[in-house]
Amino acid sequence: MKNIPYGRQYIDADDIKAVVKVLKSDFITQGPAVGAFEKKLASYCKVKYVVAVSSGTAALHLACLAADLPRHSEVITTPVTFLATANSILYAGLKPVFADIEPDTFNIDPEKISGRISSRTRAIIPVHFAGLPCDMPGIRNISRGKDIIIIEDACHALGAEYTVKGRKHRVGSCAHSDMAVFSFHPVKHITTGEGGAITTNNRKYYERLLRLRSHGVVKPYKKCKEIGPWYYEMRALGFNYRMTDIQAALGGSQMAKLTGFVKKRREIARLYKKFFYGMEEISLQEEPPWAKSAYHLFVLNIDFKVAGIGRKSVMNELADKGIGTQVHYIPIYKQPYYKKILPGNMLLDNTEDYYRKALSIPIFPSIKHSEVSRIAREVKRLAGR
Ligand SMILES: Cc1ncc(COP(=O)(O)O)c(C=O)c1O
Repeated sequence: MKNIPYGRQYIDADDIKAVVKVLKSDFITQGPAVGAFEKKLASYCKVKYVVAVSSGTAALHLACLAADLPRHSEVITTPVTFLATANSILYAGLKPVFADIEPDTFNIDPEKISGRISSRTRAIIPVHFAGLPCDMPGIRNISRGKDIIIIEDACHALGAEYTVKGRKHRVGSCAHSDMAVFSFHPVKHITTGEGGAITTNNRKYYERLLRLRSHGVVKPYKKCKEIGPWYYEMRALGFNYRMTDIQAALGGSQMAKLTGFVKKRREIARLYKKFFYGMEEISLQEEPPWAKSAYHLFVLNIDFKVAGIGRKSVMNELADKGIGTQVHYIPIYKQPYYKKILPGNMLLDNTEDYYRKALSIPIFPSIKHSEVSRIAREVKRLAGR
């Protein structure tokens, strides 16, 4: 029996053709394919500017730096996210502050954000967890009139949408934020192997991001004309976070399939929801009527006490049947590194409850309906009474 991972990429002959074409061309580092990929992403997200980079982590790091916040400013985020969200805040010399999640959506709770605002708060990084958009207008309202910017960690949410007063907004359009960040890791909606991007409508952020992506170097037109074509200036301490044309060619080709990928993920989620409907032991992430999740993950919240079985046993027994599962995530404040740097012994009630119950089951575009049924049956057999 074939093992089913919790997530995986889908690569077809067109993707391979696009990559081979670049390999046979003059550019294999950053070249025209990167610009073409950025254009496709900008058009899809309905946003002015896109900067493609080497990973989602690099995108978060650069977004935090482009914000140009005073050192040690506080940045409010969720503890239920991948480490990169909080780590990037630290890389930029800022201080992560964790706010609790909502028990039904598993997303950061706007009310809890309000409670964590201080005179030092300068940014909020909501994460659209598992692909479900956060309450962006609610979060924007909290920051209104204050010197606080919003960076969406949209690494789970390419293709997600939300509606405000009858108007649809695609995640990444930055309709209620300053920047949004994506990852193109293979388990995500589209892949470039490793890769990421930042979207923004703000020209100042865009120019800083471009500069920081490549060593903080610019080629000022006037001076180059005056001094010579070799001339360049380093104006900020930047990095080599460039995406290669090889990666961008794959990303560009994957973009053509994105709508289908999201449709497939939503179809699988609908099937799972049907299977688990009405079970006392299992609750699911609630999708509010104004939100359209891109279902990067399908997370079960299993009340293991009611189910009379431990998470380890469920994971191991599913693994024995060739079914991959994962826990997304261990709350960041529980990590030894963060315990050392955070004040006191942090415990957030909804986060703790979520973590006790979380288990992600497989979801990816190429999973078969028969596999989805088999997974649901096995989970029900183990966790149902
Ligand atoms: C929420 C979130 N933020 C950031 C990242 C980092 O992305 P990357 O792995 O591309 O660096 C991930 C990756 O899994 C993620 O899930």
